[in-house]
Amino acid sequence: MKLLVCGGAGFMGSHFIKYILAKYPDYQVVNFDKLTYAGYLENLHEVENDPRYKFVQGDICDREILEKTVQEFGIEAIVNYAAETHVDRSIMDPDAFLRTDVLGTFNLLEVTKKFNLKKMVQVSTDEVYGSIEKGSFTEESPFAPNSPYAAAKAGGDHLCRAYFVTYQTPVVVSHSCNFYGANQYPEKIIPLFITNLLEGKKVPLYGDGKNVREWIHTSDHCRAIDLLLHKAEPGEVYNIGTGQEIENVELTKLILAEMGQGEEMIEPVKDRPGHDRRYSINWSKIKEDLGWEPEKDFGEGLEETIEWYRANESWWRKLKSGEYLEYYKKQYK
Ligand code: TYD
Repeated sequence: MKLLVCGGAGFMGSHFIKYILAKYPDYQVVNFDKLTYAGYLENLHEVENDPRYKFVQGDICDREILEKTVQEFGIEAIVNYAAETHVDRSIMDPDAFLRTDVLGTFNLLEVTKKFNLKKMVQVSTDEVYGSIEKGSFTEESPFAPNSPYAAAKAGGDHLCRAYFVTYQTPVVVSHSCNFYGANQYPEKIIPLFITNLLEGKKVPLYGDGKNVREWIHTSDHCRAIDLLLHKAEPGEVYNIGTGQEIENVELTKLILAEMGQGEEMIEPVKDRPGHDRRYSINWSKIKEDLGWEPEKDFGEGLEETIEWYRANESWWRKLKSGEYLEYYKKQYK
């Protein structure tokens, strides 16, 4: 298969490209990425000389270059990881979120329709459902996004639904819980806290720290998207969760303990506006339909992730300078 992976230079997209090339020897993968602050070709150094891998720098908002790329490489399917994803950024500066997450998704749907591609997999988030105090969201739960990020993703996901219903465009949407693992840009809680501690800095815990997130390791998510690409029926929607839920303060204590540091390194800071209290999704549908289950234990995955950041200091040190610092200065002013 000839696959276009949009956002392939980012955290999750780069893991997926490496996973696909290792698993399917006869596949060709084109990585289509704008190389924003979160995209690093270094994430793909293991495959950059693989003849089955190509990189095209482009923006999913640019229909012309998208169409040219699909034609030039004879693309048969698209997996869309390209998105602005960080909630705090979306609160301060939502424009890019609306463009990439809504208009970019619209362009990919148009291209999938125009060139009769076999499949488009839209990688999305459980944040479109909003916050839930008790129980878990199913694929039938209504969207109730609370941040500009979640609203933009919800817009893209609604377009996917509309394209399937109206044009039978063969799109499948996934709603995943929070990702973690190696190569995650150090603005999300896990890599931010690990790298802060490696730098001898405190970790900024928002509000009372009792917000709950559900965590999935990159390896489990790659297997799920592989199944959606190859086995899911067009028009389907799947939640990808793990049941590995934890309060931020407990997560922080796990990281501190693993890194041999004390709770005095926690710095309580003001809460994120509109901060969702808890995310939780029911993922029985993907288990029943496609036989997927998470395999990575959270404690083990977290330990490996900490080890990765310890061993790859030059990777994250570069990212924690320049633009990154400007952004955080604004947030904590
Ligand atoms: P984040 O990694 O930004 O993911 P999301 O908001 O998409 O779930 O945040 C995860 C949780 O950690 C969320 O409840 C906010 C909290 N958080 C902090 O307490 N401090 C931080 O510096 C960051 C980035 C997040």
